[in-house]
Amino acid sequence: MKIIIHGGFFSESSQSDEVKKQKQDSLKNIIKKSYEFLMSHDSMETVIYAVKLLEDDPLFNAGIGSQIQRDGKIRLSASLMDSEKNKFSGVINVEDIKNPILLAQYLRDEEDNVLSGEGAISYAKNKGFDYYSSETEERRNDYINNLKSSGVGTVGCVALDKNGNLAVATSTGGKGFELPGRVSDSATIAGNYVNKNCGVSCTGVGEDIVSGAVAAKIVTRVTDGFSIKDAFSKTFDELKEIDGFAGAIGIDRLGQMYCQESHPKVVYASFDGEELIVFE
Ligand code: GLY
Repeated sequence: MKIIIHGGFFSESSQSDEVKKQKQDSLKNIIKKSYEFLMSHDSMETVIYAVKLLEDDPLFNAGIGSQIQRDGKIRLSASLMDSEKNKFSGVINVEDIKNPILLAQYLRDEEDNVLSGEGAISYAKNKGFDYYSSETEERRNDYINNLKSSGVGTVGCVALDKNGNLAVATSTGGKGFELPGRVSDSATIAGNYVNKNCGVSCTGVGEDIVSGAVAAKIVTRVTDGFSIKDAFSKTFDELKEIDGFAGAIGIDRLGQMYCQESHPKVVYASFDGEELIVFE
């Protein structure tokens, strides 16, 4: 069993050592809890569990503490995919709910697996999701000061369970100050993709991740025989051609975990039951 999680990017120039320590501590806590959960649940249930914990922590730009868009509203996007059924489900720009990853979970059982905007909002209401404002004082101050990058990021998790099934989940509040209607990579196969060979979740600038088709490319390369390291390396080399800003985490079917970033530094942690690695 293996698990790897991310919480977006950490910027040495704009964020303090105290925030770094808080993020390291939060990731350690969440990855330990999630690994324990993985011991008695499958990879699909576990990535939902881990991403919900990340969404609930205001340190990260997903769920509570999400970035605010140009019109002053928060819109959340999240997606989910598993290697067993090879099914992708997601929500794009949903408003006023706490955990978009739980809405993505409901959509797995529908004929229509990805919903956006008004459709996603009314689907959430029909499913009994309570009204919830994800806004925090810090994000409102960022918005007032037109700070676009303070929360750059997204959260995500890839897990490999005891039956050898992989799953991946990704959730984001977007990049902050974007035009209403802008679509994030996090609910696309560029930002969240898995098959039986490999699973990848991305963070960074959605436009670059979509242009680089990052998660889908890495997974396809592993499927075609690349090692996970070479698949990440070639995909990130190609990202340089567009000066892309991205980070990604992944696990292959053999349980090899990997993280790469185009710029320092991705906030991530991995755990295999023995060795716990946390970004420094
Ligand atoms: N990666 C998150 C976003 O750009 O929306």
